[in-house]
Amino acid sequence: MIYDVMKFFKKLDNKDIRILTGIEVGMKHYKWVPLEELVKYTRIPSDELYYKLVKLVKEGVVIGTRTPYEGYQIYFNGYDTLALNTLVKRGSISAIGDEIGYGKESVVHEGMKEPELAIEEPTNVVIKFHREGISSFKSVKRIRNHLVDREHYSWVYASRLSAQREYEALTKLYPEVSVPKPIDQNRNAVVMLFAKGSELTKTKLLDPDWFFDEIMKQIKNAYSLGIIHADLSEYNIFVHPEGVELIDWPQYIRPDHPHIDELLRRDVSNVLTFFNRKYKVDKNLDDIIDNIKNGNHSNR
Ligand SMILES: Nc1ncnc2c1ncn2[C@@H]1O[C@H](COP(=O)(O)OP(=O)(O)OP(=O)(O)O)[C@@H](O)[C@H]1O
Ligand SMILES: [Mg+2]
Repeated sequence: MIYDVMKFFKKLDNKDIRILTGIEVGMKHYKWVPLEELVKYTRIPSDELYYKLVKLVKEGVVIGTRTPYEGYQIYFNGYDTLALNTLVKRGSISAIGDEIGYGKESVVHEGMKEPELAIEEPTNVVIKFHREGISSFKSVKRIRNHLVDREHYSWVYASRLSAQREYEALTKLYPEVSVPKPIDQNRNAVVMLFAKGSELTKTKLLDPDWFFDEIMKQIKNAYSLGIIHADLSEYNIFVHPEGVELIDWPQYIRPDHPHIDELLRRDVSNVLTFFNRKYKVDKNLDDIIDNIKNGNHSNR
């Protein structure tokens, strides 16, 4: 589905982007943005606007209704398109390619970024589109109470907040902690470099004790910067011959979080359980937690 959006993205013109932006802005007030509002916002004559809207609906980036009045809304396809448009304009990406991964709450694509100097090579980047839907509305509502009567817009807030939080964590952590280098963020999209190496779950480690200690070092370094992952497991860890990289940070917490001890413990315990089951690594959980909380900052 998203791949079609990418193909379509190449065919979009400035007026299409104006229409999508108009719907995005209108959705702060309307579940279905009325056609007249779009005429006002885009200043595109209504005949042409209507023709373009039909095309956008056909391509799946806009959704239309005729009842109780003629109105339009966007969902993730349209929102991704707006994010891509901004990221391309800023020079943070120049191309988007295949899907390389997905999670419960994201779709991840590879992409390219042009170099700052013409003599350099383009960089391969990762574009992560956050997908937080109505189900995560409740947690956002607690943070932002004014959302109560804008349920139709909640996925926008939730997915944007999630992308902002991930980008924030990465910029605070990089380069002291081994995480993908952050490049940019807009709306629900985060651009970052590829994590080095391969996924821990898909790799056979010859020296599991060493890798386990490397992961603990990174957890400790993040902790010393006031950041706890809070969703760490073997699935969010990459390994390479010189070390490890931790990914997937939108749900990170700060030391003043009421459940910090419990969540730090869960992070470490998830990793320990994996290493114990697969590689028979045997360590004491309490000692590790003590070391993370009280020891000195470790070198990478
Ligand atoms: N920087 C990166 N480099 C390489 N691959 C990545 C990167 N970021 C994400 N991926 C790939 O995309 C997948 C999903 O990314 P991530 O774990 O960040 O998303 P998620 O939706 O939060 O996942 P979860 O299901 O754990 O909540 C990863 O498992 C990984 O395969
Ligand atoms: Mg993940």
